[in-house]
Amino acid sequence: MKNLADGVYFTGMLNPNMRVFDVIMRTEYGTSYNSYVVRGTQKTALIEAAHRSFSALFQEELAQALPQGCAPDYLILNHTEPDHSGCVAELLERFPKLEVFATQAASVYLKNITNIPDLRVHVVKDGETLELGGKTLRFLSAPFLHWPDSMFTYLEEDKILFSCDFLGAHYCEPGVLDTHLVYRKAYEDALKNYFDCIFGPFQPWVRKGLAKIAPLDVDMLCPSHGPVLTRGCLLENALAQYTLWSREESAGAKKIPIFYCTAYGNTAALAEAVRGGILRVFPDAQCKIYNIIEHDLDALVALLNGSDAFAVGCLTINRDAVPPIYSLLAHADAINMAKRPAALFASYGWSGEGFANTAARLNSLKCRVFEEQFKVTLVPTAADLAAAADFGERFADSIC
Ligand code: FEO
Repeated sequence: MKNLADGVYFTGMLNPNMRVFDVIMRTEYGTSYNSYVVRGTQKTALIEAAHRSFSALFQEELAQALPQGCAPDYLILNHTEPDHSGCVAELLERFPKLEVFATQAASVYLKNITNIPDLRVHVVKDGETLELGGKTLRFLSAPFLHWPDSMFTYLEEDKILFSCDFLGAHYCEPGVLDTHLVYRKAYEDALKNYFDCIFGPFQPWVRKGLAKIAPLDVDMLCPSHGPVLTRGCLLENALAQYTLWSREESAGAKKIPIFYCTAYGNTAALAEAVRGGILRVFPDAQCKIYNIIEHDLDALVALLNGSDAFAVGCLTINRDAVPPIYSLLAHADAINMAKRPAALFASYGWSGEGFANTAARLNSLKCRVFEEQFKVTLVPTAADLAAAADFGERFADSIC
């Protein structure tokens, strides 16, 4: 337990050993499941809870922030993903009078997380306030940051914003406050990684979230992961970075990366030719070719997800597409990939099942898969390369 301001306490759980979050996200700096207690003269609120695996420790920590023998009156859940709500069922067992405040969407999820079908939740409206006695909590709707249920809670008298995942980071240092941070560069890496993985698919909602925060006077921002951010230390930097990372791209040169795998250089040669054809239509396009196994996967994923269109040279080995292709496409931003133009080409030896299997993945992402697939048996001839360039040109024409 750590005192952040008069009557405001950090009761979060540190998890420095976590290395993977939500199956897909690497977390080399661990994380923290932050929660906070706000004590007014009449009522006490707990903001956020913790992962179920920390339930017992969390309850010990919570007890230290409460007056001797007292129970919290309210549980404010800004978001109900189980890293914050996993121990709510046990919390309600211990404090049966605890009144839960959350959004409408959260109230539905929470019933299924706690398996308490008749769980009573006070569904908050945007702008609604809750008086604790000298401490006023204001609830601000902030959907899709990053679930439909998300909201912010603003403590008016102390100018503290509880932002849940927004502006958080999977990062763990014992000092809790940004002013005590030891490894700033590592934290900044974690902040960016968190943004890319959690908020990258929701950038229009990030802009709305930033707009919601802009008129507030915020001295301290309490996220639900990573350090507490304060004005004059790292708060302004985090807001500026989110603004930069979520800005709308102006229409400029098209981004059409070409990804491929190649066993004997044949698909690589086709990739070069396809690129040439695309550049006939879009001479200024950012249209580089990438042999998937020679590049950092995270960097390729960023190129794929930020593209206007893309092409894949889909090798076939043993009647299937190869793992690097699957691996890249497995990381595609499925929320924003619908209707993205995509083209398939390759050299193959026998039957070329890599095409159908790669196309199946692209179709499941709802990409607009170019109706032609360009195939060459083994080593492309000069005529094949010319045809590949024409194929690239027709693909580019199709996305004009
Ligand atoms: Fe940290 Fe979306 O839960």
